[in-house]
Amino acid sequence: MLSIRLVVDPTGFDTLALPVAPVEAPDRPTDGPGRAEPAPGASPASGDTAEPTGRLLPTYPGLPAGLANEATALLPYLDQPGSAGAVHRSIRPQSTPTRLLLAGVGAGDEAGWRSAGAAVVRAGTRESSITIAIPLDADPGVVRGVAEGVWLASYRYRMPGANGAEPPALAEVLLAVADPEPYRAALDTARAVAEATRFARDLTNTPSSLKTPAWFADRVVEAAAGRPGLTVEVREPDRLAAEGFGGILAVGGGSAQGPRLVELSWRPEGADRHVVLVGKGITFDTGGISIKPRDGMKLMRKDMGGAAAVVAAVLGAAALDLPVRVTALAPLAENMPSGSAYRPGDVVRHYNGLTSESTNTDAEGRLVLADALGYAVRHLAPDLLVDLATLTGANAVALGKRTAALYSDTDELAEAVLAAAGAAGERAWRMPLPTDYAEYLGSDIADLYSAPTQGAGSVLAALYLREFTGDLRDRWVHVDMSAPSWADGNDGELVKGATGWGVRTLLRWLATQP
Ligand code: BES
Ligand code: MN
Ligand code: ZN
Repeated sequence: MLSIRLVVDPTGFDTLALPVAPVEAPDRPTDGPGRAEPAPGASPASGDTAEPTGRLLPTYPGLPAGLANEATALLPYLDQPGSAGAVHRSIRPQSTPTRLLLAGVGAGDEAGWRSAGAAVVRAGTRESSITIAIPLDADPGVVRGVAEGVWLASYRYRMPGANGAEPPALAEVLLAVADPEPYRAALDTARAVAEATRFARDLTNTPSSLKTPAWFADRVVEAAAGRPGLTVEVREPDRLAAEGFGGILAVGGGSAQGPRLVELSWRPEGADRHVVLVGKGITFDTGGISIKPRDGMKLMRKDMGGAAAVVAAVLGAAALDLPVRVTALAPLAENMPSGSAYRPGDVVRHYNGLTSESTNTDAEGRLVLADALGYAVRHLAPDLLVDLATLTGANAVALGKRTAALYSDTDELAEAVLAAAGAAGERAWRMPLPTDYAEYLGSDIADLYSAPTQGAGSVLAALYLREFTGDLRDRWVHVDMSAPSWADGNDGELVKGATGWGVRTLLRWLATQP
C-alpha cells in the first residue's frame, strides 16, 4: 500500500492537487433554451455570459505564490469543475509544481472526497508523489474519504510469483494541512479499512488453481497469527463429518480439494455483545453436475467474495480495536462435477438436522450457508447474525451490477446496515421476505427444496436461509452481494475485478455496536 502522510507546508512536490467545489448556477430568465455560449474567440472570463461554475477551496497557507489565481482563472474553461471525481490536469514546465490537478470534491463531504482521492490517483499514476491540499476547516471525514479513495483506487492484484503488469509508480500521497492533529485518527481508520478491503480483494481475485479451500484457510491463519485477541479454528473434512456438516460435505464432495470451515474470532476484553458474520466461500463454482455454461462459469473464482468480506471485516475490527466480539464463519468448498459429486435430487442433512432436496447442484451456496447458520445459532448463540453471499444471478437482474440485495425481518437492523452501507459508499437496497412465498420451498422428500424455479431467485434464496436462523430469525440480516462484489471496469475507488464489497459496510456497522 502506498504511503499517505499528513504534512504541514510541503515543498518540492511533483504534483499538487487543489480542491474545487461546484457553484450553483443562479436562476436565469427563461428567454432562451439554456445558457448562452460565449462568442468564438472570446474569453469566457470576460463579459456577462461567463458564470463561474467552480470555486477553489481555501487550503493551507503556504500555497506557492500566484497558484490560487492561476487555478481560479482556469475554472471558467472547465466542464463542471467541482463535480466529485472530475479532475483537470495542467502541465507547467517552467514552474513549481510542474503538474497541477484541479480536483472536484462535490459536496465536500466524505463521499465527495473519496471520489476525489480515487480520481487524483488515476490522473497521477505516472508521478511518484502527489500532494493534495486539504481545506482549512475540513472535518476529519474529509481525510478519511480522500485516504480511502487513494488506497482503494491504487490497489492492483498481483498473483504470488507471477509477472503481471508493473505496479503504478505512485509511492506516496501527502495531505497538506495546517495542523495534522485532528486528522490522525481518521487516517488510521482509513488505513485499517483499506487494508481489510484490499485483503478481501486479493483473496477474491486469486485464481482457483491456487485458491483451494485449504489455501484460503491458510491465508486466514497467517493473517491472524500473532495478533492478540484473534483466534482461528479450521475444521477439516473428518471433523465436519463427525459433527454433521452435511451441506458443506455434499457441496465439497465432488472436488479433489476437501472443504473447510474457518472460524475466525475477535474477542476484545470486556465486550458483552457478540456478532456472527457468515460468508459464502465457494472457491470455484462450476455448478456441479448441474454444470454451468461457459459464460456463466468463467468468473466463478469470485464465488467466495462473501467469505473474503467477513474474514477481512474481523481482521479490520481487530486492527481498529472495536469493542465488540465478532466471529466470522467461512464455509469453504469447491463445487465440481465428478464421480464423487452430489447429484440433483440428493437429500442433504444439515448441521441443525433440517434436510434439503437439492434438485439443482448449482444452488450450492445456500447449502453451505445453511450449515454455518445452524452452527452459529446452536453453538455460538450470538446477539446478531449477518450473512454475505454471492448467492444468485438474480441479484443483478433485480438491482443491476452495483447494488446488493439486503433482507431482514427487523426494520431497525436493516436500516442500521443500510445506513452503514450508504456512509461507506457501498450500495444496498432492501428487498422483501414475503412469508407466503415460502410455500415454494416445500419438498415431498425433505424439509426444504433448495432451488425453486418460481422466479424471484434472490428472494427465494433468502427465504431458504431464513429457515436456518432459528431463535435469531429477528436478529438476522442476509445480503446477496453477487452483483457488486465484482467490477467490470475501474469505477471511482473500485478497480476492475474484485471490489471487496461488504468490508467497508461491515466495519462501519460494527463500529456502531455498543
Ligand atoms: N454463484 C452463483 C450465483 C452467481 C451468479 C454469483 C452470477 C455471481 C454472479 C450461485 O451459486 C448460483 O449458481 N445460483 C443459481 C441459483 C439457482 C440454481 C437457483 C443462479 O443464480 O442461477
Ligand atoms: Mn452455483
Ligand atoms: Zn455459487
